[in-house]
Amino acid sequence: MLNVTVLVSGGGTNLQALLDAQSRGEIKGGRIHCVISSRPDAYALQRARNAGIDTEIIIRKDYATAEEYDKALVQLLKKHNTDLIVLAGFMTIIGKSVVEAYPNRIINVHPALIPSFCGKGYYGLRVHQAVLDAGVKVTGATVHFVNEVCDGGPILLQKAVEVQPDDTPETLQRRVMEQAEWRLLPRAVSLFCQGKIQVQNGKAMIKE
Ligand code: GAR
Repeated sequence: MLNVTVLVSGGGTNLQALLDAQSRGEIKGGRIHCVISSRPDAYALQRARNAGIDTEIIIRKDYATAEEYDKALVQLLKKHNTDLIVLAGFMTIIGKSVVEAYPNRIINVHPALIPSFCGKGYYGLRVHQAVLDAGVKVTGATVHFVNEVCDGGPILLQKAVEVQPDDTPETLQRRVMEQAEWRLLPRAVSLFCQGKIQVQNGKAMIKE
């Protein structure tokens, strides 16, 4: 069984989707065994405690430099024998040394169809506001491996979601979560833990 550590910062609905999938036996070959939060008040921590999962808190501003923070984060991940890292609404930038310590072993969920509405500054509700400002009719979610380029790693799974004429960023966020994120993320984690994902020439191949 692979040890999956989930990194969170906020409400933790994606973490909840993973925990629910785990209790239904849908995360094959792995188990969510640790949750690390960038904020002590993240509701995601409560969700982890409710599920009896170990929690840790690591705050960027407690470290003088990004390098020191990255080093401490890697130590924490190693302490928990992490095999796979899942960024589930984790809002702190992780640096090169973390990516190098876990090559193609960090998965992120992004609330848009990469390469649209992604990169620096595109996170949370800002992504959905940008989608509405652009007037596109379809958005969605992407699960991808994390590399040194922000939102630029190999894409694992994507799902399209319709934008409605009366959407607000909040209603659109909810639909993207319900129809895409909460389904894709547990599926991607299970595929990874079963060894069904391979990366060739910078692209991810899924063997289902
Ligand atoms: C999710 O919509 C996730 O895709 C997004 O933050 C939200 C976290 O919600 N992540 C990003 O924007 C990363 N670029 P949650 O805490 O309820 O899972």
